[in-house]
Amino acid sequence: MLEEILKLQSLIEQIVISSAEELEQFRIQFLGKKGRLAALFDAFKQIPAADKKMLGSRLNDLKNLASEKYLHSKIQFTGPDNQVIGDLTLPPDSIPAGSRHPVSLIRKEIISIFSKIGYTVAEGPEIEDDWHVFSGLNFPLEHPARDMQDTFFIEKDPDILLRTHTSSVQVRVMEVSKPPIRKIFPGRVFRNEAISARAHCIFHQIEGLYIDKNVSFADLKQTLMFFAREMFGEKTQVRLRPSFFPFTEPSAEVDVSCTICGGSGCNVCKYTGFLEILGCGMVDPNVLEASSIDSGIYTGFAFGMGLERIAMLKYQINDLRLYFENDIRFLNQFISSY
Ligand code: PHE
Repeated sequence: MLEEILKLQSLIEQIVISSAEELEQFRIQFLGKKGRLAALFDAFKQIPAADKKMLGSRLNDLKNLASEKYLHSKIQFTGPDNQVIGDLTLPPDSIPAGSRHPVSLIRKEIISIFSKIGYTVAEGPEIEDDWHVFSGLNFPLEHPARDMQDTFFIEKDPDILLRTHTSSVQVRVMEVSKPPIRKIFPGRVFRNEAISARAHCIFHQIEGLYIDKNVSFADLKQTLMFFAREMFGEKTQVRLRPSFFPFTEPSAEVDVSCTICGGSGCNVCKYTGFLEILGCGMVDPNVLEASSIDSGIYTGFAFGMGLERIAMLKYQINDLRLYFENDIRFLNQFISSY
């Protein structure tokens, strides 16, 4: 019997338990009702009384060895409620890092570019009145220019609506500050549009406003050229086309050389070599006067751009709906872009 005890002792010592299944096998083999220790205890009943003392204590030691090994391993492989939880000594799974939304990345980048040339950020409400979105920006009542932006109205008379552009923040800032004003206004805007790959009823803009003495169109052009080259690269070409906005005169739309083909022509720029990125112009004197800024002393410029559009050009995203679907396969692509 002693021989059998010693054999089992060295066997138990050598066994390595590395999974919950192996642990269960160990239990059945050694500690179960029909296990090898139970067999030894049965045999123990038959041995001569003279040997019982010595063998009994050996046998108990063996049982303790097996039980301790079992309990020690059990803590590793099972939780407090005996659920199998794996090896607690393994390093933990890393928690997957989130990523910033491409629109947030672009907003951050644009703010940092304009902060280099002295612009600070201001924000305004998304629910606005007619004055800040239209009338204060020189949109006459019943003027067809109001139809340029299909509006979501919340209340009629007086009109309360979701702002259709961040130009509303221009008005709010001009009302409360004196020139010089040099600010950018990032924010969400809303238009009653059918959702498609190229249009959405919610999107983001950043508006810029600079008002001081002697601000000229040349300053506007230089500022936008600086922005375009910081944003899209040193070699970016900038083109201004005459346009119309009720709140700027003269007005222009700005194109940059195509970010995909560099200007040689491809299907993204429809073989024109250029892509439109923003609207801009010299602030209309009527707009300055509406906010009690003396248009005889001050001039200024404003510009506004869509963040989704800039992100589309920068990251080559071809469907606006992707920004709002929260598809993890889309968002994960921006993980390293902190
Ligand atoms: N608010 C205009 C738009 O939403 C953009 C713009 C801003 C144009 C400032 C000129 C000056 O389309």
